[in-house]
Amino acid sequence: MKKILVTGGTGYIGSHTVVELQQQGFEVLIVDNLSNSNIEVLDNIEKISGVRPYFENFDLAAEAATADFFARHSDIDGIIHFAAYKAVGESMTKPLAYYRNNVQSLINIMEAMRVHNIQNLVFSSSCTVYGQPDELPVKETAPIKKAWSPYGNTKQMCEEIIEFTTAATNLKTIALRYFNPIGAHESALIGELPLGVPNNLIPFITQTAIGKRECLSVFGSDYSTPDGTAVRDYLHVVDLAKAHVVAVNRLINGKNKKNMEIFNLGTGNGFSVLEVIEAFERINNIKLNYKIVPRRAGDVEKVWADTSFANEELGWKAEIGLDEMMRTSWNWEKKLAGKA
Ligand code: UD1
Repeated sequence: MKKILVTGGTGYIGSHTVVELQQQGFEVLIVDNLSNSNIEVLDNIEKISGVRPYFENFDLAAEAATADFFARHSDIDGIIHFAAYKAVGESMTKPLAYYRNNVQSLINIMEAMRVHNIQNLVFSSSCTVYGQPDELPVKETAPIKKAWSPYGNTKQMCEEIIEFTTAATNLKTIALRYFNPIGAHESALIGELPLGVPNNLIPFITQTAIGKRECLSVFGSDYSTPDGTAVRDYLHVVDLAKAHVVAVNRLINGKNKKNMEIFNLGTGNGFSVLEVIEAFERINNIKLNYKIVPRRAGDVEKVWADTSFANEELGWKAEIGLDEMMRTSWNWEKKLAGKA
């Protein structure tokens, strides 16, 4: 049985990935400091997959604790590294916390990989590295634009750290650039747990629908898009989780073509904010209270993925459509509120 370390494994994407890994017969170890997640996620992972993953609670940005963990678990076959801060707005006011947490933890992990000869790393990156791309759909070869936030900058820096470290060692690495992950597990046992007022569109929609928020603000209707609202490539978190299993298998089985590979993960379809709202209302039979307000600073106008490299080379394709994303997001919100 191959042993995979999932950092940030109690988080939103991490927890869905742990479920998929365990369902495909991997042994999973989770390290998470629970800074943006909940220990009960382990119970729910166990309910879905029938297996309780091994768990340790510490901060991977702490060098000694990380070295100590790897000294005890040097037989790991691969690492999927999710653990990071991810709120764009918060990163503007706490840049050093973002650099310390996101960059230092990667350095500590890669140092341990070198020391213990652990070869395979899958890294959680973001389409934010492209900024507003010049050409759509965005290919992996599109230029990296200057980051608009410390969060985005940490993703760029981490990719560069991985690139140079991979070149200097025998490591094999894959960076996965996610577009907009949304939705929740079909069981409604795991999903996104935003702290406080959500920044992202889908948790704000579901919290408005359940009555926790009064009204959804649609940020800008004067973009150069068909209905004037911004366009994104939304993908279901379970599809995304499956891509991580494919990626780590690819490295373990030596199927990678280069020592560092980069793949876009999206559906290849762009939807506007109003289209997302329409799908949510229709599939769940709910009227959403929303209003158009001015643009949000820092938002790009439109971005969606060219998925051909991920489809053909990685052998992964997103299968779940927007309606399912909206249905599972709503089921999860209702479950959280105790209504389902
Ligand atoms: C952002 C980041 C991305 C990060 C993701 C998750 C950028 C360019 N992108 O994505 O890297 O991984 O957050 O944290 O920084 N919207 C509303 N009303 C709302 C909330 C959002 O209209 O209340 C609109 C936004 O203007 C945007 C779309 O919905 O057009 C999606 O927004 P959001 O879910 O926040 O994701 P991104 O900003 O695309």
